[in-house]
Parts: sequence; C-alpha cells; structure tokens
Amino acid sequence: MARVSPASFLLILIACVAGASAGSSFADQNPIKQVVSDGLRELEASVLQVIGQTRHSLAFARFAHRYGKSYETAEEMKRRFSIFVDSLKMIRSHNKKGLSYTLGVNEFADLTWEEFRKHRLGAAQNCSATLKGNHKLTNGLLPLKKDWREVGIVTPVKNQGHCGSCWTFSTTGALEAAYVQAFGKAIFLSEQQLVDCARAYNNFGCNGGLPSQAFEYIKANGGLDTEEAYPYTGVDGVCKFSSENIGVQVLDSVNITLGAEDELKDAVAFVRPVSVAFEVVSGFRLYKSGVYTSDTCGNTPMDVNHAVVAVGYGVENDVPYWLIKNSWGADWGDNGYFKMEMGKNMCGVATCASYPVVA
Ligand SMILES: *[C@@H]1O[C@H](CO)[C@@H](O)[C@H](O)[C@H]1NC(C)=O
Ligand SMILES: *[C@@H]1O[C@H](CO)[C@@H](O)[C@H](O)[C@H]1NC(C)=O
Repeated sequence: MARVSPASFLLILIACVAGASAGSSFADQNPIKQVVSDGLRELEASVLQVIGQTRHSLAFARFAHRYGKSYETAEEMKRRFSIFVDSLKMIRSHNKKGLSYTLGVNEFADLTWEEFRKHRLGAAQNCSATLKGNHKLTNGLLPLKKDWREVGIVTPVKNQGHCGSCWTFSTTGALEAAYVQAFGKAIFLSEQQLVDCARAYNNFGCNGGLPSQAFEYIKANGGLDTEEAYPYTGVDGVCKFSSENIGVQVLDSVNITLGAEDELKDAVAFVRPVSVAFEVVSGFRLYKSGVYTSDTCGNTPMDVNHAVVAVGYGVENDVPYWLIKNSWGADWGDNGYFKMEMGKNMCGVATCASYPVVA
C-alpha cells in the first residue's frame, strides 16, 4: 500500500468500521455504543482489518487506544504491531526470570530501542567537572530509608515528550523541591527557558545537557522563569526569558564527587533531592517496578545519557536502592518513579550528580 496522508488513512479506517457494521449511519443511530466504547471498538475493528485476528491483535488495539496512538498507514500499523509483539516477548521472558525488577507494557512498547534513544535521550555528556565535588559530608547517622515525597517537597512527575530535554526536568525537579523546602510553597519552573537559553553553558536544548551546567546558567542569568510564564513546548526555540517572571534564583550548586555514592547518600539523606544522571540501556524503557539493575550499562562520564532526580533511598528484598523521579509521565514505571540498585554506582547514578542552593 502506498503512503497516504493521515486524513485519508483515517477515512479508510472509518470506512472499514462502517462497512463492518453493515450500515453507513449505524454509529449515528447508536449514541450509547459511541459513549461506551470510547473509540475502542472502532480501533479494534481497524486493527483486525489491518493485522488480522492473531494472538496479540486485541492487546495491541487496547494498547493503541490507551496511549492515543494513531498510525498513518497500514504498513506503519503492521510495523508497530510487530515491535509491540517483540516488546511483549521481552517483558514475558524477563518477568519469568524473577529478578529484582519487572517490565511492563507502557507507551514506548511500539518503539524500537533506536527510535526511543533518538527521541528521548540526550547525547552522552562529559561531566568531568564533578571529578572533585564540593559537598560537605554531614557525618550524621544515616537513616535506613529516606523519601522526600513524604514531607511534600517533591512536585508531580512531568513528561518531557519527544525532546532530549531530560536535563531540564532534572534541573527543575531539584529546584522545585529546593524551593518548597526553603519557602514552604509550591512552584513550577520553566524547562523551556533552559532548552532555549542555556546553550552558552554547554547545553544543547533537545539534544541534551547537564543539570550542573543548568544550575550554573541560572546562577549567572539571575534566575529561572516560572512554568506558567515560560511554558514547555518540547522543541528548540528562541530564548524568551523575562526577568519579570523569575520564579527562583540559584545561589550556588553543589557537585557530588564522581562516583561517590556515600556523598550522594549523605546529600539525599540530609540536604534535599539531588539531580543525577545515568546510562539508559535498551530494556529500561519498559521498566515497571522493583529495583533496576543491569550488567550492560556503563558508569563513566561518557556513558550517561539521561538525567533525573534522586528523591530518596531504601532497601527492598535486601537490595539497597535509590528512589528516582523520572520525566516520562506519571504512567511510566512505578507511578513515574523507579528504583536503581545502590552501592555499585549502577549505570553511573553517582557519576554526574549535583544539587542547587536557592534564593
Ligand atoms: C572529558 O573531560 C576531561 C576533563 O576535562 C578531558 O580530559 C577529556 O578529554 C574529556 N573527554 C572527552 C571525550 O571529551
Ligand atoms: C560543578 O560542576 C559544574 C559543571 O558541571 C561546574 O561548572 C561548576 O564549577 C562545579 N562547581 C563547583 C563548586 O565545583
């Protein structure tokens, strides 16, 4: 089938559904069916038309419906179905092994690793500036468990969309928590300003960057606008910073020494949530729950390709972990969060970590 425009393919799909229901105005005469099915029946019918009745076609239709997927051509739908089936196989075979974490279907289940990498992850950055950190160990008695969400300073999980801007969400996540902690009220801060305006600090908009460099930019710039004043678009744009809309100022940023998980633990226990980076490898995108661990990710400054926020730590089934807030929406993983094994600088979680001091 030749490539057709989205609009014309939609017509084909609708035509298929109408044809199958044996009457052109069937849907119009059945408002209840419309409301109840919420488009799912129609989607199922079009998936069956294109894919045929195979083992996973209804699961695929439910997946496409749940995540609002629309495929432009029949070829595209077949290709996405085949990737989806591969993801299901990977999830089932992983979960059978009974390891410390499980995988599950999420909105990325119809993307290949290459596609996912291209749209969601930043290019690896060289974060060697943290070779010598400036966090002062408190030497206090570390609590066994910490979760900054319990004291209400962690803002809700956001979604970076199709832009390698994780580093901006890691930055705002750490800053929003620091702000609530300092001033006792919530704030939402602009990722887009960092995407558009922080290039002079070795950041590359939708192609990646580092929270430590974003903190340096905000410090030098005199502040970061609020989310409301400078909303997220998820594409590289022209800098529209306005000093009238500043939500927060950065007095300083504190870097954790490369690989020093004891420093990171001390900071997360006694100071506040910390921006961390790590290397995402292929299976991670389908993470569902439990303590993530991998023997394929690296932990050097050149490996890390994703930035997030460590908001706590704990122990699950004898495995110590970092509790981490991601920016792939609240539907991803464990309500938008994941746990990463602690104690081995797993995937470089302590390779590139820093936290801000705000005003
Ligand atoms: C990373 O940074 C370090 C220290 O500045 C430098 O020695 C090294 O060559 C850099 N590596 C790359 C690949 O840029
Ligand atoms: C922290 O790291 C950033 C870059 O990653 C660097 O610019 C800054 O000088 C470092 N801060 C300190 C206090 O070393």
